[in-house]
Amino acid sequence: MKNKIDLKNEAYKDYMDRISKESIPVYEPEIGNEELVLLKNVIKSNWLSEGKYVREFEEKLRKICDRKYALAFNNCTAALITGMKSMGIESGDDVIVQSLVHSADPNSIAATGANPVFAEIDEKTLCLSIKTIDKAKTDRTKAVLYVSLYGNTSDLDSVSEYCRHNGLILINDCAPALFGMYKNKSIASYGDFSALSFFADKTITTGEGGMLLTDDKDLISECNIYKHDGRKERGVDVIERKGFNYRLTELQAAVGVAQLGKSERFIQRKKENQQLFQSLLKEVNQVKVFDFNPEGDIVPHRNIIFVPNASELIAHFVANGVGARTLFMPMHSQPCYNYVIDFPVTKKLFKTGVCLPSAPSLKKDDIEYICQLIRKYYN
Ligand SMILES: Cc1ncc(COP(=O)(O)O)c(C=O)c1O
Repeated sequence: MKNKIDLKNEAYKDYMDRISKESIPVYEPEIGNEELVLLKNVIKSNWLSEGKYVREFEEKLRKICDRKYALAFNNCTAALITGMKSMGIESGDDVIVQSLVHSADPNSIAATGANPVFAEIDEKTLCLSIKTIDKAKTDRTKAVLYVSLYGNTSDLDSVSEYCRHNGLILINDCAPALFGMYKNKSIASYGDFSALSFFADKTITTGEGGMLLTDDKDLISECNIYKHDGRKERGVDVIERKGFNYRLTELQAAVGVAQLGKSERFIQRKKENQQLFQSLLKEVNQVKVFDFNPEGDIVPHRNIIFVPNASELIAHFVANGVGARTLFMPMHSQPCYNYVIDFPVTKKLFKTGVCLPSAPSLKKDDIEYICQLIRKYYN
């Protein structure tokens, strides 16, 4: 009989087999010599936990995101949990979050003891709007966990104003939206705090990694305590909170600093690739290329199209060696939440949305090949 470890290895092997057949991957990072140079410095320093590269990475991101404070984390989920706990979100509180979202969002709410209250999304932007937030609001709502899904935003000004007016905390999960702007402001500058991810498929990556950003000095001090095992800093023995070890390593931060040095090129390629998909697919009647918010200067996290049946087209891509994925599976119907609510927009978008390859390394020929596959499929 197979034991649990065998089954785990098999599942991982299936996944690796599948992605190794993708000649155009859904995503791949660009790691090279710039990262190696800084990594060597870290190795030579003989200190691999937090150090000067973590501080440099924080400072650079703080400036890019136009925030007063930045604190590095080992991933975005840890930053979300820490920020929410530090703002006093706890058992008995409701936190509104969209259902079409990464599991990190409702899971991080649940990790504080609070209750995730799922909401419908605005069809045009794939994000929460004041209308969908208002519909989900209860007497116990303490916060809104807003998500800049796939790098996009809805009207962040009206969402901020709604939260201010109703005395709600606004958490901005802009995990995939680094470098994105809304009405000439950094998307990450919105919210009581915002959180970024540097997982391997983000515009810049550290493998795993996250950042919490805020303008609130007290909040950043509290987050710093939670992040360092409940103590003010490493080396202090007094434990003030039941905290965690959520630190980023020097190795990861060095990679992040090197990635930032190349980010202009990544941003440009991602925007150009999205435009090329737009122009090559505009005459295919069955395909609607997702329009990112024109009021923003958005860096697309994914190239997204809507088609009559997403899973059928994805099977066609997989058979032809192209990496493609559905949108996030609605969280309200996942086994661990299993809410009986009807979200028709969420349901429709999940059934029809396809994430196409989106790496900055994607070549013009790759995009033409993908669009040709789509055209052939619908002819
Ligand atoms: C919107 C969103 N939130 C949170 C996360 C989780 O980030 P991490 O894996 O760094 O915890 C992701 C990851 O892709 C994401 O897309």
